[in-house]
Amino acid sequence: MKFVIPRGRLMDNSLAFLRNAGITVEINDSRKLMFRQDGNEIILPRARDVPVYTEYAGDIGICGTDTLAESQSNLFAPLSLDFGKCRLSIIAPRKYRLRDLDGLDIATKHPNVTSKYFSSLGIDANIITLNGSLELAPETGIADAIVDIVQTGETMRKNKLVEIRKIMDISAIVVVNRVSQKIKYEEINSFIEKAGELNGNGRVCKKYIE
Ligand code: PRP
Repeated sequence: MKFVIPRGRLMDNSLAFLRNAGITVEINDSRKLMFRQDGNEIILPRARDVPVYTEYAGDIGICGTDTLAESQSNLFAPLSLDFGKCRLSIIAPRKYRLRDLDGLDIATKHPNVTSKYFSSLGIDANIITLNGSLELAPETGIADAIVDIVQTGETMRKNKLVEIRKIMDISAIVVVNRVSQKIKYEEINSFIEKAGELNGNGRVCKKYIE
């Protein structure tokens, strides 16, 4: 089977998760992006590209719930995992309340989720898409507030920002290519069952199931 694993923060836990489920592929070169062993393939894109690689080049992927929500990919998400836990929040200088953001500039790496969320509140936000270090945006005047990931809250606090609203809880999840799910049904099902049992949380991410 073809597994799509994000480089970066989730990589070590994701590989450990695969090992627990009996999939061992030795990753012995940090520059190489694809590994094959025992009939399995590991594809290592950047985290935000996991959904698209799983949809077009993989069978099973691991990504954050935020990454899946942000993507346009149509994937099945049968398992939530016990790592990668954090949240996506609206963060701003202390002077702002949520309603003050109407008509203001919001910087984010999650433009689709952000735009949907503000629309659902009837707040007209001007979304500015950045690729990282978002906490710089308010102080430099690039944006008034940001929508970003909060894990410990340390980055936010060090940059004189406060969390004014949580948009969603985030955790790592298993995503499955819907075509593979049909044509490799047995293999995929037995992986999901075994992985779910071993992780003690065969919970279904209902939100993503059609
Ligand atoms: C993420 C996020 C915050 C920080 C939050 O950034 O965008 O900046 O981590 O973590 P904390 O609450 O524990 O401080 P990341 O390190 O992925 O880098 P980036 O900002 O360049 O995307």
